Amino acid sequence: MTHLAADKVNAALTVPPDADGRAVRYRSFMTHAAIPPSPSREEYARDYAAALAANGDETIFDRPEPIGLLIEWLAQARAHEINDPNAMALSTVDVDGWPDSRMVLLKDVDVRGLTFYSNRESAKGRQLQARPAAAVLFHWKSLRRQVRLRGTVEPVTTVEADAYFASRARESRIGAWASDQSRPLDSRETLEAAVAREESRFDGQEVPRPEHWTGWRLVPTVMEFWRDRPFRLHDRLRFERDGEGWSRGRLYP
Ligand SMILES: Cc1cc2nc3c(=O)[nH]c(=O)nc-3n(C[C@H](O)[C@H](O)[C@H](O)COP(=O)(O)O)c2cc1C
Repeated sequence: MTHLAADKVNAALTVPPDADGRAVRYRSFMTHAAIPPSPSREEYARDYAAALAANGDETIFDRPEPIGLLIEWLAQARAHEINDPNAMALSTVDVDGWPDSRMVLLKDVDVRGLTFYSNRESAKGRQLQARPAAAVLFHWKSLRRQVRLRGTVEPVTTVEADAYFASRARESRIGAWASDQSRPLDSRETLEAAVAREESRFDGQEVPRPEHWTGWRLVPTVMEFWRDRPFRLHDRLRFERDGEGWSRGRLYP
């Protein structure tokens, strides 16, 4: 673990006296110890070479539909990411119109859409109840790619939710009963006591799915594939739902 020198951190926590000048703000951003500068020509050649070589396949622009391409990119991410290649940022909107984001794990993907699981009474669950629409973002650092989706969200069937819940480790199933996800918690001990209580309640029995623990499917209307190309001249491929199929086009980076 790298630690920044305390004076560097403290300097970032106080507004510099001359911070209202544009040039000063730009300079202080460029020299912030926690933020790397833009890569130089040499760094592109040295550090990005393998990922950039893999990002030159022009045939992706001929794809008739995006779900197959997403599955291919997920498989490549699975081979390269250090963990959670199926992690995605899920953005929802609350009743006042404020956006909110958090990571969730993709648990299934097919022509119908992308499935994830959570607690219906969590912040995201309540937001999805009020406004069944969301955006999802994957970012795979090792591949230097992102995929971005927007669409409507619908609950999965109880059969699907039961099947996925049953596939989880017993401890995770106990945890789903013990956690009042997104509600205030006074201490770690309270959570551990709740786990112990649920463990003894289900001792010697199967752990059923709590009714509040379920899944949703994002049905994408727009999907955009982005990949890093040298000097920020990236590729962008956007699909939009068009009747039964998809229309497709490139975007400027
Ligand atoms: C990599 C990663 C994967 C996660 N996957 C899930 C998930 O699949 N389901 C879930 O409920 N929370 C997941 N979380 C936790 C959520 O990000 C979040 O803390 C939690 O769901 C509460 O969010 P909410 O208060 O907005 O509802 C994950 C967190 C990370 C960092």
